[in-house]
Amino acid sequence: MKHLLKMSDLSKEEIISILDLADQLKYEQKNHIPHPLLAGKSLGMIFQKSSTRTRVSFEVGMYQLGGQALFLSSNDLQIGRGEPVQDTARVLSRYLDGIMIRTFAQKEVEDLAAYGSIPVINGLTDYAHPCQVLADLMTIREKYAALEGIKLCYIGDGNNMANSLIVGGLKMGMKVAVAAPEGYHPDPAVLDFAAGNPDFLLTGDPALAAADADVVYTDTWASMGQEKEKAERLKAFAGYQVNEELLKNAKPGAMVQHCLPAYREQEITEDVFEVHADELFEEAENRLHVQKAVLVKLMGEEQR
Ligand code: CP
Ligand code: NVA
Repeated sequence: MKHLLKMSDLSKEEIISILDLADQLKYEQKNHIPHPLLAGKSLGMIFQKSSTRTRVSFEVGMYQLGGQALFLSSNDLQIGRGEPVQDTARVLSRYLDGIMIRTFAQKEVEDLAAYGSIPVINGLTDYAHPCQVLADLMTIREKYAALEGIKLCYIGDGNNMANSLIVGGLKMGMKVAVAAPEGYHPDPAVLDFAAGNPDFLLTGDPALAAADADVVYTDTWASMGQEKEKAERLKAFAGYQVNEELLKNAKPGAMVQHCLPAYREQEITEDVFEVHADELFEEAENRLHVQKAVLVKLMGEEQR
């Protein structure tokens, strides 16, 4: 594994190996066992969009691994004034040991990887959010001890989260059901990937998607960059809310997951959010552990 650009780049074995290392690093961190596996290494973090979890978890993760992280806002980089990503990649490769980038176009992340000579990690694009899905898989595996055969339903926008959950979930042998309105379906490349897989369902009916689900997942109806579409999106997604009524279709005790930030009374009710707060914030915490595992796999000298 040279980069983490999207879930389809990872094999099932690579995902398992990341999750196993993440579990181990979580154990070591909780038990105050130092693990300076990236001593002396530097990660550059380019942000063209806002972030709470991604920025803080990568920055703290690099510190816990004995390295450092540099926060590089695109407003301050020359990239924000038009320096090509190809040149940025070649320059940063001379200083850094790895780059994490959060941006709009998936192509920019792919170009960064193609032109640079160091590992690139996708910290969210309009197309994919692989770091989040690895944390989700870790959290689900913590609860159910396995992923194979677990049913995840995703309710709402066929966005970056839906795209990555479909690919990641199906790769791990999960059943994935997506309920999304017409016009807001997941990316065609992802639907091609899932086509013909009996474990995949795309429907306009949230109750059907949620039937017997072990995990009920949702995300904002208006992602970063879609702020102007907010009013029309609120209308399009009415009926796609994760609430008590919808959860009656899922298995009793089903998990609720959300990548956060969450918008109460839109994609999820306040009640459901608070009842499931522990598992939602465990999911957020697991960003730290799983990303440390990814960093070690990509930037570590000795592979763990
Ligand atoms: N879930 C997630 O990526 O959160 P941030 O936008 O806060 O980084
Ligand atoms: N779909 C959301 C996820 C935020 C973590 C967005 O892209 O804004």
